[in-house]
Amino acid sequence: MIYNHLKNRTFLLLLATFFSLTLAAQPTIENGKALFKANCATCHAKDMKTAATGPALGGAEERWADYPQSDLYSWIRNSAALIATGHPRAKQLYADWNASNMTAFKTLTDDDIASLLMYVDGVYEGTYPPPVAGAPVAGSGAAEASSGFGWMYWGLLAVLGFLAFLLFRVTNSLGQIASEKTGEKFIPKSFLQSLSSSGVIGFAIFALVIFLGYTTVNNAVGLGRQQGYAPDQPIKFSHETHAGVNQIDCKYCHDGARRSKHAVIPAANTCMNCHQAIKNGSEYGTAELTKIYASVGYDPSTNTYIEEGKTDDELKAIYTKWIGDQYKAAEGVEELGNEGEQLVADQWDGIVSSLTNDQKKTIQGPIEWIRIHNLPDHVYFNHAQHVTVGKLECQECHGKVEEMKVLEQAAPLSMGWCINCHRQTEVQFTDNEYYKSYVKYHDDIASGEREKVTVSDIGGLECQKCHY
Ligand code: HEC
Ligand code: HEC
Ligand code: HEC
Ligand code: HEC
Ligand code: HEC
Ligand code: HEC
Repeated sequence: MIYNHLKNRTFLLLLATFFSLTLAAQPTIENGKALFKANCATCHAKDMKTAATGPALGGAEERWADYPQSDLYSWIRNSAALIATGHPRAKQLYADWNASNMTAFKTLTDDDIASLLMYVDGVYEGTYPPPVAGAPVAGSGAAEASSGFGWMYWGLLAVLGFLAFLLFRVTNSLGQIASEKTGEKFIPKSFLQSLSSSGVIGFAIFALVIFLGYTTVNNAVGLGRQQGYAPDQPIKFSHETHAGVNQIDCKYCHDGARRSKHAVIPAANTCMNCHQAIKNGSEYGTAELTKIYASVGYDPSTNTYIEEGKTDDELKAIYTKWIGDQYKAAEGVEELGNEGEQLVADQWDGIVSSLTNDQKKTIQGPIEWIRIHNLPDHVYFNHAQHVTVGKLECQECHGKVEEMKVLEQAAPLSMGWCINCHRQTEVQFTDNEYYKSYVKYHDDIASGEREKVTVSDIGGLECQKCHY
């Protein structure tokens, strides 16, 4: 009987997972907000009403209303490709804005774009964020839950309530029929009486678990934790250039992976080990590298660290002089001229907008890299365990990082992903100190009774190994 299954906790959790995943595959305005901040805000104004590097996005859907919706989606994924097909709206935009082009976002899913457009509309029409007194901070878990609560949960509750009532009617009629057969007198229960029965309580617990599962997943998705996630970073740092072309070892920068839980993103001082000398790149010239100097307070013109307490204007003078000098040297000119002035101003704007945000108002201080991989808090994952003990290559979980110009999350980071690998992967058993204590397995291998030991054999599928 279903109720007997419902008593089984594991079954409940699995069901919850299933439902939550189905429900989470919906566009949400919160997801749209996170995506906008990560990908679009550098060029499109947050108020959706003013033009910036790109046009104001408010009302974009109406402006594309003459064409199939998929055209707008194609535009956002790859505007250059759509322009190349001669699409009238795309050509028009290109003509109006030919000074700058939009980045391609090939990994955005349909749900992502729908979320983005929902967010654009919400802000444009003033309905988002909802004007509620004491509203939770946007983007927090609570906001996530409340935005979904609107119809999904009430709908779910209504359906469950209706089911309960239906079940109550059915039991009563069945009782009636049975009593007619046996001739005993049947006393029907009231709806309220039957609500207190254990079956209904089971159902209520079931509903609660769905609710919790849904919020967990939704929060996680809202944080941008998803396969293919590849946000623009404050500095155009390329793994292809560093780990690929220049063959720098992953662990030179991600030193933590060998010895601790976290792999750790390197501090800007690590960058300075090389970039104190490499001041001009072959791809961006000095534009991106100057951001490192600005963040650590290094003056590349004099090769000294700038003393503390400089005003913003003084800092600006130091870095714009550096950029200007590089421009003059590269062009072989004495004066900047209009073009040079413009370039210096643009690069300075780029530095300021990359290194500062609402919270951080100064260009000095740590570079705020956008976090890509992000497991939920209830999951325990340890790099050293996998890299040092398990002897796995980074690429088995992170893909061909050395070919990525922009880093993206290669694996889904789902529970199924972890479990599958634990089922299949053989542990490096025989010559590994760490496994000395598994005497029986060693004996079995020696006697030929066992061919290999997988991670699941040593407990890699036990819930508490991965969940706090
Ligand atoms: C590097 C700057 C840049 C980034 C980042 C960027 N855009 Fe754009 N966007 C532009 C420019 C410039 C245009 C004008 C057309 C052109 O020349 O490409 C534009 C045009 C558009 C249009 C057409 C507007 C209209 O009125 O028809 C939409 C929609 C759009 N962008 C959405 C997005 C979304 C969504 C993102 C984030 C996923 C994004 N853009 C990120 C620069 C950018
Ligand atoms: C020169 C330093 C350097 C080297 C070498 C390097 N990385 Fe990175 N790595 C970074 C920086 C900086 C970031 C943050 C910016 C970004 O995401 O691109 C990063 C980000 C990452 C991330 C994503 C972190 C997150 O936010 O979830 C992964 C995964 C990663 N690196 C793996 C590798 C692997 C695997 C290698 C070797 C093939 C490698 N890195 C080599 C500097 C380095
Ligand atoms: C072990 C040396 C080394 C370290 C450490 C290092 N880089 Fe680099 N970086 C290089 C080399 C080599 C190049 C290629 C320069 C070229 O294009 O000629 C490069 C290129 C770059 C470029 C592209 C410049 C261009 O225009 O092509 C950027 C941006 C950059 N590095 C940022 C960083 C950041 C940020 C860090 C720290 C997280 C870092 N690098 C750490 C060696 C290093
Ligand atoms: C068994 C799979 C696996 C292997 C092998 C692995 N990683 Fe990771 N990595 C992950 C997971 C999962 C996360 C997300 C962790 C979290 O959110 O707590 C992650 C996160 C990261 C991050 C983000 C910062 C952090 O520590 O959370 C970096 C950087 C990174 N890995 C680099 C590396 C490098 C470099 C190697 C190789 C030396 C490596 N990883 C090997 C699975 C792996
Ligand atoms: C590419 C294969 C692979 C993936 C993916 C992977 N693991 Fe592992 N994991 C291993 C191997 C191999 C070991 C054995 C090393 C050891 O004994 O610690 C291991 C061991 C572990 C252990 C220690 C088990 C024990 O009994 O001591 C934990 C905990 C763990 N993994 C968590 C995770 C989590 C959480 C994820 C997903 C986010 C994950 N792993 C993804 C291969 C993988
Ligand atoms: C090898 C590691 C690993 C083991 C073993 C494991 N889990 Fe998980 N579990 C994960 C990871 C990783 C996630 C996060 C998945 C996500 O966010 O998509 C997760 C998520 C969950 C969730 C939340 C559902 C969701 O989608 O967020 C539940 C419930 C859960 N696990 C239950 C269990 C139970 C019950 C067991 C034992 C039968 C178990 N897990 C064993 C790694 C593991």
